[in-house]
Amino acid sequence: MDKLVIEGNVPLRGRLRVSGSKNAALPILLACILAEGPVRLRNVPKLKDIATTLQLLRMLGCGAEQNGEIVVTCVGQNLIPEAPYDLVRTMRASVLCLGPLLARLGKAVVALPGGCAIGSRPVDLHLRGLERMGATFELEAGNIIGRCKRLKGAHIHFDFPTVGGTENLLMAASLAEGETILENAAREPEVTNLADFLNACGAKIQGQGTSIIRVQGVDRLNGAEFGVMPDRIEAGTYLVAAVITDGELYLENCSMADLDAVVYKLREMGVWLQEGKSGVLVKRGTNLVGVDVMTQPFPGFPTDMQAQIMALMGLADGSGTIKETIFENRFMHVQELVRMGARIKVSGQNAVVRGVDQYIGAPVMASDLRASASLVLAGLAAKGSTEVLRIYHLDRGYEELEAKLSQVGARIRRVAQ
Ligand code: EPU
Repeated sequence: MDKLVIEGNVPLRGRLRVSGSKNAALPILLACILAEGPVRLRNVPKLKDIATTLQLLRMLGCGAEQNGEIVVTCVGQNLIPEAPYDLVRTMRASVLCLGPLLARLGKAVVALPGGCAIGSRPVDLHLRGLERMGATFELEAGNIIGRCKRLKGAHIHFDFPTVGGTENLLMAASLAEGETILENAAREPEVTNLADFLNACGAKIQGQGTSIIRVQGVDRLNGAEFGVMPDRIEAGTYLVAAVITDGELYLENCSMADLDAVVYKLREMGVWLQEGKSGVLVKRGTNLVGVDVMTQPFPGFPTDMQAQIMALMGLADGSGTIKETIFENRFMHVQELVRMGARIKVSGQNAVVRGVDQYIGAPVMASDLRASASLVLAGLAAKGSTEVLRIYHLDRGYEELEAKLSQVGARIRRVAQ
């Protein structure tokens, strides 16, 4: 298993290009199951999770190739509606093939994803919504077996604005008979990007980006060409990298609009940010101060940036608090940051962070994607050498992390163990 070795305390300076969004690309790739013609996708990041999704599409009988752009072809008669456990357990987002398979084939056998490092993560809201559209489900040997005739439009009110649930239902509703109304829908930009992609294929979706989305079902979807949005979480992570090392970065292919809540909190901490023509310039500004952060569904502060802002707050003047409301177990990075000298105390959903002057390099263990990112950030700022173990998590979500960071001056290398 590879590890990252970082010699820290070097300011990062220069330009970085933000890659395409993992969390937008994954549902868009699975939405290709709905399209009767070939789909060409630009700006898809080269990541482990994308390779896994392409493998899943091939297992479902689709053609899927990544060669600069990605081309996916899902011809109806060749489709096999089965997503096996071996694949689903390596990537929970596989469950997003449920809606498209039911809508296109009337059948889906998808392994029920288990818990994961950040929480139990059930899919009950996905299933309840699809049931309202006429699907029935049984659980057999760990697989969800879904069946339906043509799905029927329905009025669905989510108990919680679930990102994956909204995406699964959007895809299913696109080919359903009649109108579907999704209330308390997720407003994340990745959901909007998926809806825009479906519309490019001929779907009739309105209201994406708001909490009420209306979908008029159509009989068929065509192929399309589409560019995936930039990865706002990768961008947010590099904004923090510039500040935590007291450097200055210009991030290309990045829009502040998708990062509003993060930009707001960074400015409150004393960070200087300016939007340019096609990106964002960031540097520390005055002294950093601790602030209070609470994770929330979009447009609130994203849970996927919680670990990174915690690493930054650990070096601010005074103290701040972080409340995690989306996942029940997303503080696994805390004890690792403490190994590097951070002063953080956790009680239930809340963490109190008291700033220290400096992190000290140490061997640390990554537990999930964003926790790993926070340890890399702490390592970039730390005095001495930091080893981040179990970096396969990072390979799932950050395209060419070491190459990008090295390009702006970081002393970081991957070592095979
Ligand atoms: N939830 C339920 N029932 C459901 C669905 C969700 O109880 O049927 C709960 C979850 O257990 C969780 C909360 O609702 O506590 C939020 O889950 P949501 O469905 O919104 O998240 P997701 O679709 O599973 C996506 C991203 C996550 C990101 C969250 C929140 C993808 C592939 N994953 O997950 O990204 O944290 O939305 O924004 O889009 C990451 O990239 O590191 C990552 C974990």
